[in-house]
Amino acid sequence: MSDTTTTKAAAAQRRKRSLSGIKPTGSPHLGNYLGMVVPAIALQETHDAYYFAADYHALTSVRDPEEMRRSTYELTATFLACGLDPERTAFFRQSDVPEVCELTWLLSCVITMGELSLAHAWKARKAEGDEGTALHGLFAYPVLMASDIIIYDSDVVPVGKDQIQHVEMARDMAKRFNYHFGETFRLPEPLVREEVMTIPGLDGRKMSKSYDNGIDIFLSKKKLKQRIAQIVTDSTPLEAPKDPATCNVVALYRYFATPEELAEMEAAYRRGGYGYGHAKMALLEAMDRTLGPLREKYDALIANPRYLDEVLAAGADKARVVAQDVMGRAREKVGYPRTPHAPR
Ligand code: TRP
Repeated sequence: MSDTTTTKAAAAQRRKRSLSGIKPTGSPHLGNYLGMVVPAIALQETHDAYYFAADYHALTSVRDPEEMRRSTYELTATFLACGLDPERTAFFRQSDVPEVCELTWLLSCVITMGELSLAHAWKARKAEGDEGTALHGLFAYPVLMASDIIIYDSDVVPVGKDQIQHVEMARDMAKRFNYHFGETFRLPEPLVREEVMTIPGLDGRKMSKSYDNGIDIFLSKKKLKQRIAQIVTDSTPLEAPKDPATCNVVALYRYFATPEELAEMEAAYRRGGYGYGHAKMALLEAMDRTLGPLREKYDALIANPRYLDEVLAAGADKARVVAQDVMGRAREKVGYPRTPHAPR
């Protein structure tokens, strides 16, 4: 077999790589869980999955090292509790792979200020005014993110809708680099599960930390009940028929109920004589059925930071091998030695 045939065969055999990063900032809510964590974990069945705590990105806002450490553990425990298999996947700290910062610079040299200023997050910050006080890290955020994606030869990037633009920018940067320096990087694609694109919060708007309308994943049943009580409903009296399609309780129930349970609730709404209080009780039970066992796993994991360190270290080992290889390729293409000179 010729060399190219062997390489082609190897490439055909390689599973597609799925990569994503999550900023470790505060406890994850159901929007993160349903929109990103669950779909990303599901990909471990079919893909070579690489996921990381985006602790470099978190530094645009976090100022407390203790919070940085704690949130990273929390995120790691979240993924493991929700079913990520550390044997088959790599879960790691972004900052354990410093090559990602090196590649960020190379990419900074192929993307323009004009292109970066089109990023939604930057435009939102700019609209607040006083842009001279905005951090360079915020402006350059998409370049670091592109580097994250490109450095692992990623094929797909499971993300929420709000991150699609960033993945597209990563693809543009990879293309641009390839154009200037020759075929070097694989072109990534965003992967968004349409059916879970927008998880509604307590008030019906998209569940988001900034709206404070979220439900944390690992609440105790008691706290979960209190939070569910806060879901906004209209004032239709108990006896009257109700429209399930516009109700915030039903909107969340559909993610936790069986199809039969959901159909039953919808029928009860239309029939009347079924109040929002009943619906909220049913929601609590359905949610606790799924989340209760996860909460127990999470509590055990978070109490065992040594184990979490091991998982993060093993993940970093896997990730760094790939990153150094891709970085070496890029270094050579621009005219640097493949590996930087090591001190003698
Ligand atoms: N920007 C993402 C967010 O805010 C986090 C992130 C960082 C990321 N690097 C990434 C997501 C690479 C996907 C791929 O949620």
